[in-house]
Amino acid sequence: MAYETVLTETHGPVRLIRLNRPEALNALSVQLIKDLNAALDEAEAAQEIRCIILTGSEKAFAAGADVKEMQSNTYLDGYLGDFVAQWERVTQMRKPVIAAVAGFALGGGSELAMMCDFILAADNAKFGQPEIKLGILPGAGGTQRLTHLVGKSKAMELCLTGRMMDAAEAERAGLVSRVIPAADLIPEAIKVAQAIAGMSLPAVMMAKECINRAYETTLSEGIRFERRVFYATFATPDQKEGMQAFVEKRPPAFKS
Ligand code: HXC
Repeated sequence: MAYETVLTETHGPVRLIRLNRPEALNALSVQLIKDLNAALDEAEAAQEIRCIILTGSEKAFAAGADVKEMQSNTYLDGYLGDFVAQWERVTQMRKPVIAAVAGFALGGGSELAMMCDFILAADNAKFGQPEIKLGILPGAGGTQRLTHLVGKSKAMELCLTGRMMDAAEAERAGLVSRVIPAADLIPEAIKVAQAIAGMSLPAVMMAKECINRAYETTLSEGIRFERRVFYATFATPDQKEGMQAFVEKRPPAFKS
């Protein structure tokens, strides 16, 4: 399907979703979030798709919520309309979603990247929560997810000063899984996504569910949850195939 502010490409089992408002550095307008959610729904429903990449341009993943659109909002527009609730679709995805971030990932852009399962960063990526400079604060999870990912001290400094951090600092801080030369970001993201797509999809989805549990529950409950799910993998044909292939010294051919 074609969208106004989002482009999609399919690379075998991988769907690449590209934010596409170049005139506004991919500022996250209501229309863009609507298009993104529809593209995510489509990828989640498509049986042949097993991994999703969310990206922007070389200049910007997304420079935040659309300030021009938001500027005249009142408290009641926000409270009653609750537009930020629309941003959470990506967190409800059951299939894995990789954020491939080049250029600016600021404000809501950084928050959107953090909602994905992991972030691959180009060496020109810049992350930040500059909302404080606008007289507001992060509203799509920035104060929460950033704190979980990089700890209180750095999250506090970034949110209170609006300072941007570069890709190397983001990697040291644990915000991104890896830094890649900008020109190689998309080919490398597709390679990673294809590797994930070659695994057992139920095993991938279960592992994702367990890791996400780590953020929502105590360690002992998380361990209990993981163990139940681990035992459940033995009910899948892919476990039989994966272990049989190992014993026979051949690559596995997962069916689900
Ligand atoms: C609307 C934006 C925008 C934004 C950039 N643009 N960011 N429009 N909302 N968030 C527009 C600019 O107005 C400009 O349009 C064009 O994109 C190019 O931007 P420039 O500023 O000219 O580019 P540059 O000098 O390279 O500076 C890049 C930048 C800067 C450092 C990223 O654009 C910037 O600071 N942007 C705002 C970042 C920000 O504050 N984000 C947080 C937003 S609040 P024209 O028409 O002039 O060419 C937020 C809250 C989320 O995200 C909470 C949940 C909803």
